[in-house]
Amino acid sequence: AAPADITYGDGPSTPAWAYNGSVPGPLIEVAQGDHLRVHFRNDLPDETTIHWHGVRLPAAMDGSVFVQSPVQPGASFEYEFDLKDSGLFWFHPHVVSDLQVQRGLYGTILVRGENEPEFDRELVVVLDDIRLLADGSIDEYPDDDGITNGREGNTLLFNGQVSPTLRAQPGETLRLRLVNTANGRFFNLKIAGHQLRVAGTDGGLIPIPYDVDSLPIAPGERYDVFVSLSGDVGDELAITTEPYDRGHGTDDNPSMPLATLSLEGSKVTGKPLPEDGPAAELFAEGGESFAVVLGEAFIGGEQKFTINGAVSPDVPDVMVPNGETRIIELQNDTEQEHPFHLHGFFFQTIARDGVPVPESERFNKDTIISPMMSTLTLAARFDEPGMWMYHCHILEHAERGMMGMVHVE
Ligand code: C2O
Ligand code: CU
Repeated sequence: AAPADITYGDGPSTPAWAYNGSVPGPLIEVAQGDHLRVHFRNDLPDETTIHWHGVRLPAAMDGSVFVQSPVQPGASFEYEFDLKDSGLFWFHPHVVSDLQVQRGLYGTILVRGENEPEFDRELVVVLDDIRLLADGSIDEYPDDDGITNGREGNTLLFNGQVSPTLRAQPGETLRLRLVNTANGRFFNLKIAGHQLRVAGTDGGLIPIPYDVDSLPIAPGERYDVFVSLSGDVGDELAITTEPYDRGHGTDDNPSMPLATLSLEGSKVTGKPLPEDGPAAELFAEGGESFAVVLGEAFIGGEQKFTINGAVSPDVPDVMVPNGETRIIELQNDTEQEHPFHLHGFFFQTIARDGVPVPESERFNKDTIISPMMSTLTLAARFDEPGMWMYHCHILEHAERGMMGMVHVE
């Protein structure tokens, strides 16, 4: 990690922070079962860590400040762990994360499994937004709206680029591996004239792929999407983010371009879209539960975000004996959506506002949209000892109190 000058669009260059000199940082491509070793050196002026978002690993490698002392400027750290699961994961700092991620510190890990669906062309897509001033520098500190709602940028980034043009052949089956690394923006991805087949998410492939016209992706979430490219040579398809109401209406959030897909070459017969996927191993139900209530409070003149009425680090730890399953009653008492993220473990949604989710529709996630004024019932198996964080992935909310800890003993 080091300072770097990055050019976004055709504006003046931006003093950013980057992994290996680029934003997004490197794509680490590995196979399920591989052992990964990352030689991390901190050449930033501030301390930092790397959190491996969604990866099931030993607590000492998780990168939160509850399990490692931050890596000081000039110092190094070896991160080392096995990749147990296939899917798309990502990594980012867990120190002053709202500022450090915004400055450009994020990258992806693509873990390939053995039985992956077929496709003709694959693209890892990192969606982000950044708030740039006219001189190219980052407008670092959020205004009140940016604190209350999560900070949104004025420049949308598709793999670090502003409205890039991508090439594909008509007829191809395109596989998009999507991650939203923004601080506060929810993307709602659409490809003009095409349906998106969602075949996987945070924890890999899902049992029953489904089709959508547009796909909401909250900060921290990933999706594995297949698209059969209809159209002809010469067609240009707009990839956009569509209005999405997460509690503040859609006035500030019109349809906006992300990229253009240009169909070139000759028409081909594409691979079939995936029709089914592996069933998830379901976590046991009916055991003990704990509540996570998301709230907001104005304390000492400042907007804070709470868990069970308390502001981190005053949120009491949840104790779970190693190996046990717990039901998490995730209740959102606010009038906006929050992306809830759990470190180190997957969870499965077993009910929404008390209505059971059919077993065939349960799958592994690590980040989920908690809808406003409602409750999700999640099941998780805590089978790795250590201190594990859970928090809202709107980083302005997390850094202002909406974080808690599960202590697996
Ligand atoms: Cu990507 Cu603690 O999170
Ligand atoms: Cu939040």
